[in-house]
Amino acid sequence: MPVRAHITGVGGYLPERVLTNRDLERIVDTSDEWIVERTGIRERHIIAEDQRTSDLALEAARQALADAGIEAGDLDALVVATTTPDMVFPSTAAIVQAKLGVAGFPVWDIQAVCSGFVYGLAQLAGMMEAGMFRRVLLVGAESMSRILDWTDRSTCVLFGDGAGAVVLEARDDGEGGVLGSVLDADGSHRKLLMAAHPHPGASPDAVGDAPDDAPDLQVDAAGVAAIEMKGNEVFRIAVTRLGEVVGRVLDHCGMDESEVDWLIPHQANIRIIQATARKLGLGMERIAITVDRHANTSSASVPLALNEYYRAERIRPGQVLLLEAFGAGFVWGANLVRWSKS
Ligand code: ACO
Repeated sequence: MPVRAHITGVGGYLPERVLTNRDLERIVDTSDEWIVERTGIRERHIIAEDQRTSDLALEAARQALADAGIEAGDLDALVVATTTPDMVFPSTAAIVQAKLGVAGFPVWDIQAVCSGFVYGLAQLAGMMEAGMFRRVLLVGAESMSRILDWTDRSTCVLFGDGAGAVVLEARDDGEGGVLGSVLDADGSHRKLLMAAHPHPGASPDAVGDAPDDAPDLQVDAAGVAAIEMKGNEVFRIAVTRLGEVVGRVLDHCGMDESEVDWLIPHQANIRIIQATARKLGLGMERIAITVDRHANTSSASVPLALNEYYRAERIRPGQVLLLEAFGAGFVWGANLVRWSKS
């Protein structure tokens, strides 16, 4: 049997505060009906003032470690996928490692925005297959509410905060594990969805020769830039690229749509998810949906959805999971996983 990365522990954490669409009606000119109809989102969780991304990551990490029945000190590597790091450096992964009270193994962050977890899973699975690591922790953690313009109704209704995590263990005994991944990107679309670098030195020059139709760069007094997006163009390209990449990852693994038991998609918009499900010929009962309660938590959305469906015992050993995501850049990707955890 080939060595593969098996998911042996899963965890998730959502901050306590819930912000509903009705709450948002008091902040911007929007309505619950508009948000639900266009996105499927009903509410989202918002990080507490005294929390940082690393605190959310820590909670999810602890839960995943406990679920795998291992200690932080047993890890060979720790990776955090995030687009909202605590600071420019050190990495959020280093901060989480310190908060776990361990040292002596490599840690790093992955910045692939909403595709961070899918990228991380592909990267770590490849490194484990090559024999570099036996046990690793991959976390997707975000505090998207900190980079939103709360006066912009076209973006502030879409995002939420949270963290999800998995423990991966290299095994050569059985059919399961990460079967394969496909990653892709096209940086020519970078100006359709962006936020300037979140440090005080960020300047409008950082985005270079923005075309006339690019959104104006918004930087607040602290130099923190808010998300700006051409929503309908992002939507159109996301649907096309996700439709392609799910086919490509199946081809890559020599499988077809009928073998997929669960689609675990990035949770940005229910209409994007439905389009990908149609492409795969999967009924909605085979799609993990959390966007209604979590909104778009960027790199945390796939592991949070995985955590929820795993804990509800919907995902069963031997089933095939297709994970996919699309995010700013644009960067996108997909992983196929045969579930081996009971
Ligand atoms: N409440 C009420 N009206 C709104 C709101 C709001 N929150 N936001 C925008 N509108 C208005 C607009 O001003 C516009 O009004 P107008 O016609 O008078 O000018 C109207 O609604 C339609 O706006 P559109 O942007 O064309 O609406 P659309 O149907 O495209 O839906 C949405 C917008 C939900 C953002 C959609 O384009 C989308 O989901 N895009 C994908 C973006 C995304 O998910 N990005 C996340 C990161 S990338 C990723 O994770 C995939």
